[in-house]
Amino acid sequence: MKSPMLLNATVFLLQLISFGTSCNGALQYGFYRGKCGTKDVEAIIAGVVRQRFFADSKIVAALLRMQFHDCFVNGCDASILLDGPFSEKTAPPNLSVFGYDLIDRAKAAVEAACPGVVSCADIIIAATRDAIALAGGLSYQVPMGRRDGTISLASRVNLPSPSITVRQSIQVFQSKGLNTYDMVLLLGGHTVGVTHCSIIRDRLYNFRGTGKPDPSLNPIYVQILSNMVCPRFSNFNNFVFLDDPSSALKVDNSFYKQLLQNKGILPIDQALTSDWSTRWIVHQLAGNSNLFLTRFNQAMVKLASVQVLTGTQGQIRRNCRRIN
Ligand code: HEM
Repeated sequence: MKSPMLLNATVFLLQLISFGTSCNGALQYGFYRGKCGTKDVEAIIAGVVRQRFFADSKIVAALLRMQFHDCFVNGCDASILLDGPFSEKTAPPNLSVFGYDLIDRAKAAVEAACPGVVSCADIIIAATRDAIALAGGLSYQVPMGRRDGTISLASRVNLPSPSITVRQSIQVFQSKGLNTYDMVLLLGGHTVGVTHCSIIRDRLYNFRGTGKPDPSLNPIYVQILSNMVCPRFSNFNNFVFLDDPSSALKVDNSFYKQLLQNKGILPIDQALTSDWSTRWIVHQLAGNSNLFLTRFNQAMVKLASVQVLTGTQGQIRRNCRRIN
Protein backbone atom coordinates (compact mmCIF):
# COMPACT_ATOMS: atom_id res chain seq x y z
CA MET A 1 0.00 0.00 0.00
CA LYS A 2 1.25 3.53 -0.85
CA SER A 3 1.70 5.93 2.04
CA PRO A 4 -0.65 8.98 2.06
CA MET A 5 2.44 11.23 1.73
CA LEU A 6 3.56 9.45 -1.42
CA LEU A 7 0.02 9.54 -2.79
CA ASN A 8 -0.22 13.31 -2.18
CA ALA A 9 3.13 13.90 -3.82
CA THR A 10 2.05 11.85 -6.85
CA VAL A 11 -1.23 13.76 -7.16
CA PHE A 12 0.66 17.06 -6.88
CA LEU A 13 3.11 15.96 -9.57
CA LEU A 14 0.29 14.88 -11.87
CA GLN A 15 -1.46 18.23 -11.33
CA LEU A 16 1.77 20.05 -12.17
CA ILE A 17 2.15 18.04 -15.37
CA SER A 18 -1.45 18.62 -16.46
CA PHE A 19 -1.15 22.34 -15.58
CA GLY A 20 1.95 22.47 -17.76
CA THR A 21 0.15 20.93 -20.73
CA SER A 22 -2.96 23.07 -20.36
CA CYS A 23 -0.73 26.17 -20.55
CA ASN A 24 1.02 24.70 -23.61
CA GLY A 25 4.48 25.00 -22.03
CA ALA A 26 5.52 28.60 -22.01
CA LEU A 27 2.76 29.77 -24.31
CA GLN A 28 0.39 32.13 -22.53
CA TYR A 29 -3.01 33.63 -23.09
CA GLY A 30 -2.60 37.41 -23.39
CA PHE A 31 1.17 36.99 -23.80
CA TYR A 32 1.54 40.36 -25.54
CA ARG A 33 -0.49 42.31 -23.00
CA GLY A 34 1.69 45.19 -21.79
CA LYS A 35 4.58 44.21 -24.10
CA CYS A 36 3.77 46.89 -26.67
CA GLY A 37 2.92 49.82 -24.43
CA THR A 38 -0.82 50.30 -24.44
CA LYS A 39 -1.17 48.85 -27.92
CA ASP A 40 -2.99 45.59 -28.49
CA VAL A 41 -0.90 43.67 -31.02
CA GLU A 42 -3.53 40.98 -31.56
CA ALA A 43 -6.02 43.72 -32.49
CA ILE A 44 -3.49 45.18 -34.95
CA ILE A 45 -3.15 41.79 -36.66
CA ALA A 46 -6.94 41.33 -36.65
CA GLY A 47 -7.35 44.69 -38.42
CA VAL A 48 -5.00 43.66 -41.21
CA VAL A 49 -6.79 40.31 -41.65
CA ARG A 50 -10.23 41.95 -41.67
CA GLN A 51 -9.21 44.38 -44.39
CA ARG A 52 -7.86 41.56 -46.56
CA PHE A 53 -10.84 39.27 -45.90
CA PHE A 54 -13.32 41.83 -47.23
CA ALA A 55 -11.20 42.23 -50.37
CA ASP A 56 -10.55 38.51 -50.87
CA SER A 57 -12.15 35.86 -48.69
CA LYS A 58 -9.91 33.12 -50.14
CA ILE A 59 -7.41 34.30 -47.56
CA VAL A 60 -9.19 32.11 -44.99
CA ALA A 61 -8.25 28.92 -46.86
CA ALA A 62 -4.75 30.23 -47.45
CA LEU A 63 -4.14 30.89 -43.76
CA LEU A 64 -5.64 27.63 -42.55
CA ARG A 65 -3.39 25.69 -44.89
CA MET A 66 -0.40 27.84 -43.96
CA GLN A 67 -0.85 27.09 -40.25
CA PHE A 68 -1.09 23.36 -40.98
CA HIS A 69 1.95 23.34 -43.27
CA ASP A 70 3.99 25.44 -40.84
CA CYS A 71 3.11 23.47 -37.70
CA PHE A 72 3.59 20.03 -39.27
CA VAL A 73 7.11 20.79 -40.48
CA ASN A 74 9.53 21.67 -37.69
CA GLY A 75 6.69 22.86 -35.47
CA CYS A 76 4.87 26.21 -35.49
CA ASP A 77 8.01 28.30 -35.97
CA ALA A 78 7.20 30.25 -39.14
CA SER A 79 9.83 28.26 -41.03
CA ILE A 80 7.38 28.18 -43.95
CA LEU A 81 7.81 31.95 -44.35
CA LEU A 82 11.56 31.98 -44.96
CA ASP A 83 12.67 32.78 -48.49
CA GLY A 84 15.54 30.93 -50.15
CA PRO A 85 16.27 28.58 -53.03
CA PHE A 86 15.82 25.43 -50.90
CA SER A 87 13.45 26.71 -48.21
CA GLU A 88 10.17 24.98 -47.27
CA LYS A 89 8.23 27.29 -49.59
CA THR A 90 9.87 25.63 -52.59
CA ALA A 91 8.70 22.10 -51.66
CA PRO A 92 5.93 20.79 -53.98
CA PRO A 93 3.09 20.75 -51.39
CA ASN A 94 3.85 24.39 -50.55
CA LEU A 95 3.89 25.71 -54.10
CA SER A 96 0.16 26.44 -53.96
CA VAL A 97 0.28 27.98 -50.49
CA PHE A 98 -0.34 31.72 -50.58
CA GLY A 99 -1.01 34.59 -48.21
CA TYR A 100 2.64 35.35 -47.39
CA ASP A 101 2.02 38.99 -48.33
CA LEU A 102 -0.70 39.22 -45.70
CA ILE A 103 1.75 38.03 -43.04
CA ASP A 104 4.27 40.64 -44.30
CA ARG A 105 1.62 43.29 -43.94
CA ALA A 106 0.66 42.24 -40.42
CA LYS A 107 4.32 42.05 -39.47
CA ALA A 108 4.96 45.57 -40.81
CA ALA A 109 2.00 46.82 -38.77
CA VAL A 110 3.16 45.26 -35.50
CA GLU A 111 6.79 46.27 -36.12
CA ALA A 112 5.62 49.85 -36.58
CA ALA A 113 3.85 49.67 -33.22
CA CYS A 114 6.71 47.98 -31.32
CA PRO A 115 9.76 46.60 -33.12
CA GLY A 116 11.14 43.16 -32.30
CA VAL A 117 8.29 42.03 -30.06
CA VAL A 118 5.82 39.92 -32.06
CA SER A 119 7.03 36.71 -33.69
CA CYS A 120 6.09 35.69 -37.21
CA ALA A 121 5.03 32.31 -35.81
CA ASP A 122 2.44 34.03 -33.59
CA ILE A 123 1.24 36.17 -36.49
CA ILE A 124 0.36 33.05 -38.53
CA ILE A 125 -1.62 31.63 -35.60
CA ALA A 126 -3.41 34.88 -34.73
CA ALA A 127 -4.23 35.70 -38.35
CA THR A 128 -5.65 32.21 -38.96
CA ARG A 129 -7.79 32.47 -35.83
CA ASP A 130 -9.13 35.86 -36.98
CA ALA A 131 -9.84 34.59 -40.49
CA ILE A 132 -11.83 31.61 -39.16
CA ALA A 133 -14.09 33.92 -37.15
CA LEU A 134 -14.65 36.17 -40.18
CA ALA A 135 -15.66 33.17 -42.31
CA GLY A 136 -18.44 31.96 -40.06
CA GLY A 137 -16.43 30.19 -37.38
CA LEU A 138 -16.48 31.10 -33.71
CA SER A 139 -13.84 33.44 -32.31
CA TYR A 140 -11.41 31.92 -29.84
CA GLN A 141 -8.47 32.74 -27.64
CA VAL A 142 -5.14 31.17 -28.45
CA PRO A 143 -2.05 31.29 -26.26
CA MET A 144 0.91 33.23 -27.69
CA GLY A 145 4.63 33.45 -27.12
CA ARG A 146 6.01 31.36 -29.98
CA ARG A 147 9.40 32.28 -31.33
CA ASP A 148 10.68 32.03 -34.85
CA GLY A 149 12.88 29.25 -36.16
CA THR A 150 16.03 29.78 -38.17
CA ILE A 151 16.01 26.66 -40.33
CA SER A 152 13.79 26.04 -43.34
CA LEU A 153 14.57 23.20 -45.71
CA ALA A 154 12.41 21.85 -48.52
CA SER A 155 13.94 18.45 -47.83
CA ARG A 156 12.28 18.43 -44.40
CA VAL A 157 8.79 18.94 -45.82
CA ASN A 158 7.15 15.60 -45.29
CA LEU A 159 3.45 16.47 -45.38
CA PRO A 160 0.84 13.72 -45.82
CA SER A 161 -0.24 12.95 -49.37
CA PRO A 162 -3.96 13.20 -50.26
CA SER A 163 -4.06 9.45 -50.85
CA ILE A 164 -2.67 8.54 -47.42
CA THR A 165 -4.78 5.93 -45.63
CA VAL A 166 -6.73 6.77 -42.48
CA ARG A 167 -4.46 4.44 -40.47
CA GLN A 168 -1.31 6.17 -41.74
CA SER A 169 -2.82 9.61 -41.21
CA ILE A 170 -3.73 8.74 -37.61
CA GLN A 171 -0.09 7.84 -37.03
CA VAL A 172 1.19 11.07 -38.58
CA PHE A 173 -1.15 13.18 -36.45
CA GLN A 174 -0.31 11.11 -33.38
CA SER A 175 3.38 11.85 -33.92
CA LYS A 176 2.46 15.55 -33.52
CA GLY A 177 0.51 14.95 -30.31
CA LEU A 178 -2.89 15.03 -32.04
CA ASN A 179 -5.41 12.24 -31.57
CA THR A 180 -7.88 10.70 -34.02
CA TYR A 181 -10.67 13.11 -33.09
CA ASP A 182 -8.31 16.08 -33.57
CA MET A 183 -7.36 14.68 -36.98
CA VAL A 184 -10.96 14.44 -38.16
CA LEU A 185 -11.64 17.95 -36.87
CA LEU A 186 -8.55 19.38 -38.51
CA LEU A 187 -9.33 17.75 -41.85
CA GLY A 188 -12.51 19.80 -41.44
CA GLY A 189 -10.18 22.65 -42.48
CA HIS A 190 -11.22 21.44 -45.94
CA THR A 191 -14.54 23.19 -45.25
CA VAL A 192 -12.93 26.06 -47.18
CA GLY A 193 -10.77 26.25 -50.25
CA VAL A 194 -9.89 24.26 -53.29
CA THR A 195 -7.78 21.56 -54.82
CA HIS A 196 -6.92 21.07 -58.49
CA CYS A 197 -7.95 18.63 -61.20
CA SER A 198 -4.43 17.18 -61.35
CA ILE A 199 -4.89 15.89 -57.79
CA ILE A 200 -8.20 14.10 -58.47
CA ARG A 201 -7.81 13.06 -62.12
CA ASP A 202 -7.12 9.43 -61.17
CA ARG A 203 -10.24 9.29 -59.03
CA LEU A 204 -12.33 10.47 -61.96
CA TYR A 205 -10.86 8.42 -64.79
CA ASN A 206 -8.50 5.68 -63.72
CA PHE A 207 -8.85 4.69 -60.10
CA ARG A 208 -5.99 2.35 -59.16
CA GLY A 209 -5.43 1.47 -62.81
CA THR A 210 -9.01 0.23 -63.35
CA GLY A 211 -9.79 2.75 -66.10
CA LYS A 212 -12.91 3.59 -64.08
CA PRO A 213 -13.82 6.24 -61.48
CA ASP A 214 -13.27 5.67 -57.77
CA PRO A 215 -16.40 3.74 -56.65
CA SER A 216 -16.35 5.59 -53.33
CA LEU A 217 -17.10 8.87 -55.15
CA ASN A 218 -20.77 9.73 -55.71
CA PRO A 219 -21.50 8.80 -59.41
CA ILE A 220 -23.52 11.96 -60.03
CA TYR A 221 -20.66 14.01 -58.67
CA VAL A 222 -18.26 12.10 -60.95
CA GLN A 223 -20.43 13.15 -63.92
CA ILE A 224 -20.52 16.80 -62.88
CA LEU A 225 -16.80 16.96 -62.18
CA SER A 226 -15.76 15.19 -65.35
CA ASN A 227 -18.17 17.07 -67.63
CA MET A 228 -17.87 20.53 -66.19
CA VAL A 229 -14.77 20.93 -64.06
CA CYS A 230 -12.03 18.46 -64.98
CA PRO A 231 -12.64 17.20 -68.56
CA ARG A 232 -10.52 14.17 -69.38
CA PHE A 233 -8.31 15.69 -72.06
CA SER A 234 -8.24 19.28 -70.91
CA ASN A 235 -4.90 21.01 -70.43
CA PHE A 236 -6.34 23.30 -67.78
CA ASN A 237 -5.65 22.41 -64.20
CA ASN A 238 -8.92 23.89 -62.94
CA PHE A 239 -9.69 24.27 -59.29
CA VAL A 240 -12.24 22.10 -57.50
CA PHE A 241 -13.94 23.14 -54.25
CA LEU A 242 -13.13 20.83 -51.35
CA ASP A 243 -16.58 21.41 -49.82
CA ASP A 244 -20.00 22.02 -51.33
CA PRO A 245 -19.44 25.00 -53.69
CA SER A 246 -22.16 27.00 -51.93
CA SER A 247 -20.26 26.68 -48.66
CA ALA A 248 -16.65 26.63 -49.83
CA LEU A 249 -15.86 30.05 -48.40
CA LYS A 250 -17.57 29.29 -45.11
CA VAL A 251 -16.24 27.61 -41.99
CA ASP A 252 -19.05 25.19 -41.15
CA ASN A 253 -19.81 21.48 -40.83
CA SER A 254 -21.10 21.02 -44.37
CA PHE A 255 -17.78 19.35 -45.28
CA TYR A 256 -18.81 16.34 -43.15
CA LYS A 257 -22.31 16.30 -44.67
CA GLN A 258 -20.65 16.12 -48.09
CA LEU A 259 -18.59 13.15 -46.95
CA LEU A 260 -21.77 11.33 -45.94
CA GLN A 261 -23.03 11.82 -49.51
CA ASN A 262 -19.76 10.42 -50.89
CA LYS A 263 -18.76 13.82 -52.19
CA GLY A 264 -15.40 14.04 -50.45
CA ILE A 265 -12.97 15.39 -53.02
CA LEU A 266 -9.64 14.27 -51.60
CA PRO A 267 -9.27 10.51 -51.08
CA ILE A 268 -8.26 10.97 -47.42
CA ASP A 269 -11.37 13.11 -46.80
CA GLN A 270 -13.73 10.47 -48.19
CA ALA A 271 -11.81 7.68 -46.47
CA LEU A 272 -12.85 9.14 -43.09
CA THR A 273 -16.27 7.59 -43.67
CA SER A 274 -14.97 4.09 -44.31
CA ASP A 275 -12.72 3.54 -41.30
CA TRP A 276 -14.51 2.49 -38.11
CA SER A 277 -12.32 4.75 -35.96
CA THR A 278 -13.30 7.93 -37.81
CA ARG A 279 -16.76 7.20 -39.29
CA TRP A 280 -18.61 7.88 -36.05
CA ILE A 281 -16.81 11.21 -35.65
CA VAL A 282 -17.87 12.28 -39.16
CA HIS A 283 -21.47 11.41 -38.28
CA GLN A 284 -21.27 13.30 -35.00
CA LEU A 285 -19.80 16.44 -36.56
CA ALA A 286 -22.13 16.35 -39.59
CA GLY A 287 -25.08 16.26 -37.21
CA ASN A 288 -24.03 19.04 -34.86
CA SER A 289 -22.86 22.32 -36.29
CA ASN A 290 -22.03 23.92 -32.93
CA LEU A 291 -20.05 20.92 -31.81
CA PHE A 292 -17.90 21.21 -34.93
CA LEU A 293 -17.36 24.95 -34.55
CA THR A 294 -16.34 24.69 -30.90
CA ARG A 295 -14.19 21.62 -31.22
CA PHE A 296 -12.56 22.78 -34.46
CA ASN A 297 -11.23 25.82 -32.63
CA GLN A 298 -9.90 23.63 -29.83
CA ALA A 299 -8.11 21.44 -32.36
CA MET A 300 -6.64 24.54 -34.04
CA VAL A 301 -5.29 25.67 -30.66
CA LYS A 302 -3.77 22.22 -30.19
CA LEU A 303 -2.25 22.34 -33.68
CA ALA A 304 -0.87 25.79 -32.82
CA SER A 305 1.15 24.35 -29.96
CA VAL A 306 2.98 21.63 -31.92
CA GLN A 307 6.73 21.74 -31.23
CA VAL A 308 6.80 25.46 -30.52
CA LEU A 309 9.91 27.43 -29.67
CA THR A 310 9.46 29.57 -26.57
CA GLY A 311 11.42 31.55 -23.98
CA THR A 312 14.89 32.21 -25.30
CA GLN A 313 14.73 29.64 -28.12
CA GLY A 314 14.85 30.84 -31.73
CA GLN A 315 14.41 34.54 -32.36
CA ILE A 316 11.88 37.25 -33.16
CA ARG A 317 12.52 37.85 -36.83
CA ARG A 318 12.49 41.47 -37.95
CA ASN A 319 11.40 40.38 -41.41
CA CYS A 320 9.37 37.16 -41.64
CA ARG A 321 11.13 36.17 -44.86
CA ARG A 322 14.67 36.28 -43.43
CA ILE A 323 16.44 35.25 -40.27
CA ASN A 324 17.99 38.17 -38.34
C1 HEM B 1 -3.86 14.26 -43.96
C2 HEM B 1 -3.90 15.55 -43.90
C3 HEM B 1 -4.08 16.46 -45.08
C4 HEM B 1 -3.88 16.23 -46.41
C5 HEM B 1 -3.41 14.96 -47.08
C6 HEM B 1 -4.22 17.45 -47.11
C7 HEM B 1 -4.13 17.62 -48.46
C8 HEM B 1 -4.50 18.74 -49.15
C9 HEM B 1 -4.44 18.90 -50.58
C10 HEM B 1 -3.92 17.87 -51.57
C11 HEM B 1 -4.93 20.12 -50.88
C12 HEM B 1 -5.10 20.74 -52.26
C13 HEM B 1 -3.84 21.40 -52.72
C14 HEM B 1 -3.92 21.90 -54.13
O1 HEM B 1 -4.61 21.32 -54.96
O2 HEM B 1 -3.24 22.90 -54.43
C15 HEM B 1 -5.32 20.74 -49.64
C16 HEM B 1 -5.90 21.97 -49.54
C17 HEM B 1 -6.21 22.57 -48.35
N1 HEM B 1 -5.94 22.08 -47.09
FE1 HEM B 1 -5.33 20.23 -46.64
N2 HEM B 1 -4.62 18.38 -46.21
C18 HEM B 1 -4.54 17.83 -44.95
C19 HEM B 1 -4.84 18.44 -43.77
C20 HEM B 1 -5.20 19.76 -43.65
C21 HEM B 1 -5.37 20.44 -42.40
C22 HEM B 1 -5.10 19.83 -41.03
C23 HEM B 1 -5.76 21.71 -42.70
C24 HEM B 1 -6.06 22.85 -41.76
C25 HEM B 1 -6.46 22.73 -40.53
C26 HEM B 1 -5.88 21.80 -44.13
C27 HEM B 1 -6.32 22.89 -44.81
C28 HEM B 1 -6.41 22.98 -46.18
C29 HEM B 1 -7.04 24.08 -46.87
C30 HEM B 1 -7.76 25.26 -46.23
C31 HEM B 1 -6.90 23.84 -48.23
C32 HEM B 1 -7.39 24.73 -49.37
C33 HEM B 1 -6.29 25.70 -49.75
C34 HEM B 1 -6.67 26.73 -50.79
O3 HEM B 1 -7.82 26.84 -51.18
O4 HEM B 1 -5.76 27.44 -51.23
N3 HEM B 1 -5.51 20.61 -44.67
N4 HEM B 1 -5.04 19.89 -48.60
